[in-house]
Amino acid sequence: MTTPRYAPDLVPGTVTLVGGGPGDPGLLTLAGYQAVCQADVILYDRLAPQDVLDEAPGAQKIPVGKVPQGPFVPQERINQLLVEHARAGRRVVRLKGGDSFVFGRGGEEWQACAAAGVPVRVIPGVTSSVAGPELAGIPLTHRHMVQGFTVVSGHVAPGDSRSVLDWSQLAKCGTTLVILMGVTHIRQIAEDLIGGGLDAGTPVAVVRRASLPGQSVMSTTLASVADEMAAAEVRPPAIVVVGDVAGLDLDHTDAAVRHPSDH
Ligand SMILES: C[S@@+](CC[C@H](N)C(=O)[O-])C[C@H]1O[C@@H](n2cnc3c(N)ncnc32)[C@H](O)[C@@H]1O
Repeated sequence: MTTPRYAPDLVPGTVTLVGGGPGDPGLLTLAGYQAVCQADVILYDRLAPQDVLDEAPGAQKIPVGKVPQGPFVPQERINQLLVEHARAGRRVVRLKGGDSFVFGRGGEEWQACAAAGVPVRVIPGVTSSVAGPELAGIPLTHRHMVQGFTVVSGHVAPGDSRSVLDWSQLAKCGTTLVILMGVTHIRQIAEDLIGGGLDAGTPVAVVRRASLPGQSVMSTTLASVADEMAAAEVRPPAIVVVGDVAGLDLDHTDAAVRHPSDH
C-alpha cells in the first residue's frame, strides 16, 4: 500500500509552521499530520495536540509552550532554535494550537526564518476561535441575526497602555465578539463593553477546553459573566463569545422562518 500524500514532502533545512487545531488530534489537517510524521525536530506548544507527537517516534521533541502566568521559552529563543535546527539540515516542524497566524506568533517566526535565509512555509490550522464556539453549538454568524464576527485578544486589560483595542467601539460593531485569552481581564472587558453601549443582558458563552477532555460551556450574560467565571474558577484555555448567537439553542429553534429578504 502506498502512503497517501496530502502536501509536498518536508525538505531538509526548512521550517514548517503547522496549525494543530484546538487540541483534539482529529482536528489536525491531513497536511499537518503528514508534516508531523516526516519531521526530524518538532517544537510544540502546550495547546498543540499532544497525542499526535507519538506519530513521530524518531523525531526530537522540544516543548516551548507558555503556561499562563508560568514559565515559558522566550520567543527569541524559539526563533533561534528554529533557525539552528534548520541550518543543521533538519526538517523542522513548529506545531501550535489552532492556527499559527491567529495569536500564534507564526508571523514573527516566519520573519525570523526569512531573515536568516531559512525557507519556511505554513500549513493552516483549525483556529479555536471558530472551532471552540462551534463545538459548543454556537454559530458565529447566523442568518438574520448577525452578519459577522470579530476575534480579539483579551490578554492586555482595557485601558492598559499596551492595548490597541477600543472596547467601546467593539461594543458598537454589531458583530459577534470572540475573545481569546480573556479570563484574567473579563471583569473590566465586560464593564467596558457595557459602558460602550452593549446591553448588560447580552448573551455570553464561555467555552472551556474545546475539543479536549473536560470541555464545558457556561451560558450567562454580559452583566454576570465575571462573577460566574470567578465562582466557577474558570482557567485558561477558554473562549468568551458575546452576542445573540451565544444564547441560541439550535436544538430548539426553528430555522424555517422565512424573512422578506430571502430569495
Ligand atoms: C495564544 S492563543 C492561541 C490561539 C490559537 N492560535 C488559535 O488559533 O486557536 C491561546 C488562546 O486560545 C484559546 N484556546 C486555544 N485552544 C483552546 C481550546 N481548546 N479551548 C478553549 N480555548 C482555546 C484560549 O483563549 C487560549 O487562551
